Amino acid sequence: MPSLLGIVCSPRTPSNGELFIKAVHKELGNDWQLYIIRLVEWNIGPCRACYRCLFDGCPQKDDMSQLIRHIASADAVMITAPTYFLGASATLKKFVDRGLMFYAHLDELWGKPMLAVVTAGIRHMDGYALLMAESAVKIMGGNLLGSFVIYGAFPGEGVIGEENRAKITEAAKAIATGNPLAQSNGPECPLCGGRSFRFLDKSTIQCLLCSNTGSFRLSDGEMLPEINPSKHQLFLSLEAAKEHAEWLRGMKKRFLEVRDSLKPVVRALAGRGTTITPPSKSRS
Ligand SMILES: Cc1cc2nc3c(=O)[nH]c(=O)nc-3n(C[C@H](O)[C@H](O)[C@H](O)COP(=O)(O)O)c2cc1C
Repeated sequence: MPSLLGIVCSPRTPSNGELFIKAVHKELGNDWQLYIIRLVEWNIGPCRACYRCLFDGCPQKDDMSQLIRHIASADAVMITAPTYFLGASATLKKFVDRGLMFYAHLDELWGKPMLAVVTAGIRHMDGYALLMAESAVKIMGGNLLGSFVIYGAFPGEGVIGEENRAKITEAAKAIATGNPLAQSNGPECPLCGGRSFRFLDKSTIQCLLCSNTGSFRLSDGEMLPEINPSKHQLFLSLEAAKEHAEWLRGMKKRFLEVRDSLKPVVRALAGRGTTITPPSKSRS
């Protein structure tokens, strides 16, 4: 039986995100097994930036490795996060920050069908939340079939109403068929399908999903982004992702080469300022 894994980044039970996943599963039918992971219940520590996971595994003894195993063994994944102050909840980002660990599992994760969903209480007050959820999918190596903002403030509101019901149907269809959704007629990054852009100057734009830059032209009033791949690619292809992982591994050698020359830079600023200890640490 195929399995759908729902990763829920809300602290609420029930949350609109989790209810949305369950409603999608209801539409998929009982031929699919549904698993839910409420990420706030999982012990996921902050990345310590030691890069050891690229060589011999993460030294942190938390739930991250097990989480990756669940993602790798699912046939499809939905990740949902609530919008908090225009971005996705920190629970999602904490998990994404551990993304260097995904490099050891690229072959299992690459191309897995995934959907990114954020919930928001106020229409169009979702800011960059969806971009964060889309990014989580790409960083996991998933095949982003589509992404949605679900509007509803109170638990339950995210699965009612014509608009939300239509999104549930679309999401179920995408998972059942493995086909990406036709999302909008708006401009898309030709490299990664991203739909969020930043203007770097009057004519240069950057795709905020893959971070590549380029320009755009107008054709019949339609904006057409022309984005070029830069040297570093995190997820445009499996080969590029592996190449980037290899480049990161090579950084260890490069750091050892420049470490001594950086020491005076660090020393010159050592001891400056007073570090304020958090009250929780100073209580004995
Ligand atoms: C701390 C906090 C910040 C929020 N910020 C926003 C916001 O910026 N924009 C918005 O539309 N909704 C905001 N909301 C509302 C939630 O996104 C909304 O209730 C949503 O349904 C929560 O989804 P969930 O039930 O899956 O957790 C906020 C809620 C909380 C608790």
